[in-house]
Amino acid sequence: MMDEHPGGGGNVAPAHLGGSPIPGLELPSGIEARYCTSNSSNESLLTRAEREAAGAFGDARRASFTLGRTLLRATAAHVLGCAPEDVPLAELTSGALALPGTGWQVNLTHTRDAAGVVLARRRVGIDAEYVRPRNPALWTRILSPGEGRPNVPGWSEEAQLILAWAAKEAALKASGVGLRLGASAARLSQGFSKPVFEAETPEGSFRVVAVRHDGAVWAVAWEA
Ligand SMILES: CC(C)(COP(=O)(O)OP(=O)(O)OC[C@H]1O[C@@H](n2cnc3c(N)ncnc32)[C@H](O)[C@@H]1OP(=O)(O)O)[C@@H](O)C(=O)NCCC(=O)NCCS
Repeated sequence: MMDEHPGGGGNVAPAHLGGSPIPGLELPSGIEARYCTSNSSNESLLTRAEREAAGAFGDARRASFTLGRTLLRATAAHVLGCAPEDVPLAELTSGALALPGTGWQVNLTHTRDAAGVVLARRRVGIDAEYVRPRNPALWTRILSPGEGRPNVPGWSEEAQLILAWAAKEAALKASGVGLRLGASAARLSQGFSKPVFEAETPEGSFRVVAVRHDGAVWAVAWEA
C-alpha cells in the first residue's frame, strides 16, 4: 500500500494544464481520464532524464513518448498539487508507470497522434485504438474459449473488434499484466447494449467503459 501524498488528499482539481476529458466517456468520480493531440507536446514539462531518454528514440517513439509524458505530468501535477517536473513518476519492471508515495495509480496510452492518461486511487488502465479494417481472423486471438463477441448496437463489425481489443487491453493494463499473456487472457461480460463491460483478468476484475472519438475507440478500466 502506498503512502498518501501530502498534496493528493483532496478532490481532483477540475482544470488541467494539458489534456481534455475524453468526449462522451462517463467515469465515476475519482477517476481522471484526459487526452490530448500531438500539438500539445511540451518538452519543457519533462525531466532532464526524460528529455535525454526521448533524444535516444527514433522520430515516432520520441514524439509519442514526449506527448505521453507531457500529458501525464500536466494532469498528475494538477491532481497532486505540485509542479509537473516534481511528479514522482517511476517505471516498474513490467513497463507500467507508477506514482510512488502518492496513493495514486496511473496508466498511459499513445496513438499515432494522440495520448491518453488515467489516474485514480485504485488500479486503472487506458487504451486507444484506431478503427480500421482488420483481418477477422484476429477474433480468434482476442476471444477466450467460449467467449462471445461484443454486440453494441450501431457499431460496425470492425468497430466491435477494436472495442473488444481496447476493452481487454485497458483491463489487462490496469491489472499490470499488459498483453504479455495475449488479449484472450481477459474475458468480457456479454449482453450489454452499451460499451460497458466487466472484465475478468488473471489479476482481478475490472469495470470497463469505452467511447468512439476521432476515429478511435477509447477504453478506460478500473478496479471493480
Ligand atoms: C503495455 C502494452 C499493452 C502496450 O501496448 P501498446 O498498445 O503498444 O501501447 P499503449 O500506447 O496503449 O500503452 C503504452 C504504455 O503502457 C504502459 N505500460 C507498459 N507496460 C505495461 C504493463 N505491463 N501494464 C500496464 N501498463 C503498461 C506504459 O506507460 C506505456 O507507455 P510508455 O512506454 O511511454 O511509458 C504492451 O506493450 C505489453 O503488454 N507490454 C508488456 C509485455 C510485453 O512486452 N509483451 C511483448 C509485446 S506484446
